[in-house]
Amino acid sequence: MCGITGIVTRNSDNIGELLVRCSSKLTYRGYDSVGVAAVRDGIVDLRKDVGTIEDVDRLLGLSKMKGDRGIAQLRWATYGAPNKINAQPHFGCEEVFFGAHNGNIHNYVEYRRQLIETGHTIRSENDGELCVHAVDKYYEQTGDMLEAVRLSTHDLKGAFAFAVGRSDKEEIYAVKMGSTLVAGIAENATIVSSDLPSILPLTNRILYLADGEMLSLTHDEVKVFRIEDGKQLERKPEISKIDARAAEKGGFPHFMLKEINEQPKVVQDLMGVLEGQENEKWFSLFEDASRHYLVACGSSYNASIVGTYYFNRLAGLPIIHALGGQFEPMYGNTMDSDSLSILVSQSGETKDILNVLNMVYENDYGKTLGIVNVIGSTLMFKANSYVPMTCGYEISVPATKTYYSQAVIFAYLSAKLGERNGHLDPSEAASLINRLRTDLPRLTQTTIDRTGILAKNLAKTLTNVKDLYCLGYGFTDGVAKEGALKIKEICYNHCEGMYSSEFKHGPLSIVTDKYPVIFVTTTEDSWMVINHINEVKARSGRTIIVGEMEDTLLPYVANKDDYLAVPKSDILLNPILDVIPLQLLSYFLSVDIGINPDLPRNLSKTLTVD
Ligand code: BG6
Repeated sequence: MCGITGIVTRNSDNIGELLVRCSSKLTYRGYDSVGVAAVRDGIVDLRKDVGTIEDVDRLLGLSKMKGDRGIAQLRWATYGAPNKINAQPHFGCEEVFFGAHNGNIHNYVEYRRQLIETGHTIRSENDGELCVHAVDKYYEQTGDMLEAVRLSTHDLKGAFAFAVGRSDKEEIYAVKMGSTLVAGIAENATIVSSDLPSILPLTNRILYLADGEMLSLTHDEVKVFRIEDGKQLERKPEISKIDARAAEKGGFPHFMLKEINEQPKVVQDLMGVLEGQENEKWFSLFEDASRHYLVACGSSYNASIVGTYYFNRLAGLPIIHALGGQFEPMYGNTMDSDSLSILVSQSGETKDILNVLNMVYENDYGKTLGIVNVIGSTLMFKANSYVPMTCGYEISVPATKTYYSQAVIFAYLSAKLGERNGHLDPSEAASLINRLRTDLPRLTQTTIDRTGILAKNLAKTLTNVKDLYCLGYGFTDGVAKEGALKIKEICYNHCEGMYSSEFKHGPLSIVTDKYPVIFVTTTEDSWMVINHINEVKARSGRTIIVGEMEDTLLPYVANKDDYLAVPKSDILLNPILDVIPLQLLSYFLSVDIGINPDLPRNLSKTLTVD
């Protein structure tokens, strides 16, 4: 995905500084290239190049640009290589229209050809450029900017949002058609953006938008219109309670380390919300359904794997879990109006998940329950109900506290469901929920404190390792996959996460002297996992263990540094705590290798594209 920011200000000297300050909070949305178009006295100054916003600002002086309105764009490349010409924003035919988009224009190829055949000068291979030309085209026909913006959406197919301006018009316009867009009203400026963190430095007076709406911004007013008929809509700003400092590092070297350290507070806030909400709707959605599907991507998917074990163990509930992209071809025909699709997405905007949401509604395949972090996201609005993950903004591209929050939510939901359906003794349910509320914050903090130094030391011994495995069993199945994903995402190593009993059926052949294999264990399953550890040890592989310290396992590590011991707890808290050493290991290894863990190459925080 990408991040767009449009600002109109009363002051004509600081548009560059405002756009850089605000749009830099969207870095997690894309950092392949950055650009700013600023207008002063009817002249559009457009500067853009590859690199992060800091790089390009240093190179081209973005924050020094003058003018009273402008658009900035941070790009994660989809259509067109990440180079200067494909960077956004773009001009229209002349250097009069300027604009940028987030999302995908699915009819890019044919529409680009159509525009060229009708005389448009298309400079790039980036689909965002077509949004500007579409407005240019209809302005030629209507002479009216708002109408031209409205009509432009008739030509553009796909899921997108864009901002556009004209050198001789004081307004900036924006369109929301399937990608995120939100606006803000400040003292002497208005702002429109792909995401809230870039608005909060200016204002907490927020206008949430729905798909099919468009905006016009002047320095003191935001007007909302329905695209379908151009009708102006009443929209009152809401006061956001999210603290702008949430988008700052708070003294940590990276957002990732900050967000790992926020996990004790996450569970405290989360339990307050889970127990404080009127959540009868969540449980009735489960109980009214005859079949339950758990659908997610990336780290959310790994947390969902842990969730299936909780639902089985505590609620006796069979849950079919699947990746967003595989769900329809794998299970689409098994669904009916009695199905429940539990859609897990911290951003609430992952296209692979929204595709499932739309498929469910289009085919009347029952109800949906979102497990979502970003307030105001599409999943939050469109699901029949949603469980708020209550993590605050997660800025670092690799998920940490949001994965952790999801695991806690699954433990909570399955305990409550088990109590309600009689599968779990009420005293056991109450005990677990009490442990989540009182013990888990403390145990999480102790785990961070204890395994931080262990992980840092272990990381130093792995800096030259390019290939390894991370294995889990039972409850730690999803945990091991998450640990492997962290290492892949931010260390650029090949680390495969898989089920430990499967390792002997083929992958074991990779083990040679000192080949590293990480085992994520629980005290309940170590009797079994010891066999799998032995299979690696017997072939002089290097076994690394993550889990509670167990004397029976100590002989299986070359030295204690290869044992990331978490504090003693129990089988139901182990899967939540065991991920922390893996988060820290991947973090320190990434930093040792010289990578910025917050901004791993080629990745983006939320993929609003297919
Ligand atoms: C990827 C992110 O793009 O999307 C991952 O890099 C994330 O960190 C995955 O886990 C799913 O995102 P979401 O918002 O649907 O949970």
